[in-house]
Amino acid sequence: MELKKVFEQRRSVNFFDTTKKIDLRLFERIYDVAKFCPSSFNLQPWRMIVITVPKNKKKLKEAALNQPKVEEASLMLIVLADTRGFEEMDKIFDDMLEKGYQQEEAREGLKGFARMLYDNPVASRGFALRNASLFAMSFMLAAKNFGVDTHPMDGFEQDRVKKAFNIPDRYEVSMLIAVGFHNKKKVLLERLNRKSFKEVMIKEGFKTGRRE
Ligand SMILES: Cc1cc2nc3c(=O)[nH]c(=O)nc-3n(C[C@H](O)[C@H](O)[C@H](O)COP(=O)(O)O)c2cc1C
Repeated sequence: MELKKVFEQRRSVNFFDTTKKIDLRLFERIYDVAKFCPSSFNLQPWRMIVITVPKNKKKLKEAALNQPKVEEASLMLIVLADTRGFEEMDKIFDDMLEKGYQQEEAREGLKGFARMLYDNPVASRGFALRNASLFAMSFMLAAKNFGVDTHPMDGFEQDRVKKAFNIPDRYEVSMLIAVGFHNKKKVLLERLNRKSFKEVMIKEGFKTGRRE
């Protein structure tokens, strides 16, 4: 699909066709496109827990403000942001080395650089969430390209989701994504307005002394 159309046609779909399932091969094909999103040092600090079993969907729904789409979607993704993902530099470095991006002598320096940037509670959380959220957006756009609908959600209780699915401390839940096919019997409301270019664009920085 033309990229502009993917953006125009992706919607947060509230109503999923409960009779239509996504098979794992299609899910993997979506991932294989979404994975090309950028990440800090190409560290890809994200994982995704895939929920398809009804009893697990129910558990997730209860932790997600009882939003019905959690049970109606073909599958639910719990997108995890890995706050310790910057410690995986060795693996990434080997690829960089092989492809001529770096020389071996730079290995320890680059690892130190990543630690300097991210090894504190605020920065590691920012690093993880920033990258995992870019991945989540890529996943939603890639899904639309294959005719698959999605719905991102931050309406959930972080601690409850983590407990329910035994998620280790190093991960933060970036968001949930409902994945499936729109139930066409339920028409989505017209798309909400977006801010104009003028509203969003700030030329060359904020003016000094002006509070906005
Ligand atoms: C990070 C994030 C979290 C969201 N959380 C929820 C949610 O918990 N429940 C919900 O109904 N919609 C949620 N939304 C959907 C937004 O309301 C929706 O994206 C927005 O209204 C624009 O609509 P569109 O995606 O159809 O263009 C979320 C969207 C994003 C990006």
